[in-house]
Amino acid sequence: MDWFELLAENFMVEGGSPLHYLDRIVAAYPCVLHGVSMSLGGDENPEHSDQLEALIRRVQPPWFSDHLCFTGSAHANVHDLLPLPYTDQVRDHVVERIKRVQDRFEIPFAVENVSSYLTYKDSVVPEWEFLADVAERADCALLLDVNNIFVSSVNHGFDPYVYLAAVPADRVVQIHLAGHETRPEGYRIDTHDHPVCEEVWELYAAAIRKIGSVSTLIEWDGQIPSFARLQQEADSARSVRDQALEAARASS
Ligand SMILES: [Fe+2]
Repeated sequence: MDWFELLAENFMVEGGSPLHYLDRIVAAYPCVLHGVSMSLGGDENPEHSDQLEALIRRVQPPWFSDHLCFTGSAHANVHDLLPLPYTDQVRDHVVERIKRVQDRFEIPFAVENVSSYLTYKDSVVPEWEFLADVAERADCALLLDVNNIFVSSVNHGFDPYVYLAAVPADRVVQIHLAGHETRPEGYRIDTHDHPVCEEVWELYAAAIRKIGSVSTLIEWDGQIPSFARLQQEADSARSVRDQALEAARASS
């Protein structure tokens, strides 16, 4: 493995085995932090921000990331990454939140696209336009989850390659890949408990041809396989990436 992504909230503790292993992994490998509770569409939770700041100081990652979503309302956290209505008002709110995050932590922040199972009548632009607009206005990085694009494209009936075409390539610092579940009704659920499917590998190759070589992480956090099987999936990502880079070189 070249590097690891650490789920930030798992290490927001006072001590014990999580921090013991955290320090060992950080000493041995490059690590980035990935959060799931910032709730950019909601209000800032000062306690979460303080804990995140302590963790960032401890790990000193090259960047950290969280999702373009909300995870609850007021002080109720539903522990799910809920999609946002894509309106100007929500965009302005999210941009302000991201700017404050970047000002406070002083390291690059990457926002990630989520998978979703519903859309809002209030949305005035498609997700890909909203994402690009937020990134531009907040001047932030992007964590592009290629599996999430595909899952949402099936669930909502859009072309994942239209989404990819709208992504500002120079802002992408990291890619996520994962496996998902196909329900008998036809829709997809982002379960992170399967191998990466063929359509997502193809979309990943297209993403690499567009973006170039960026750090890629396999998210496999349900029905976790042996480390050797996970390593195999990471090796597959390397080989798809190398072929895509070669194809991009040959056609330029
Ligand atoms: Fe992801």
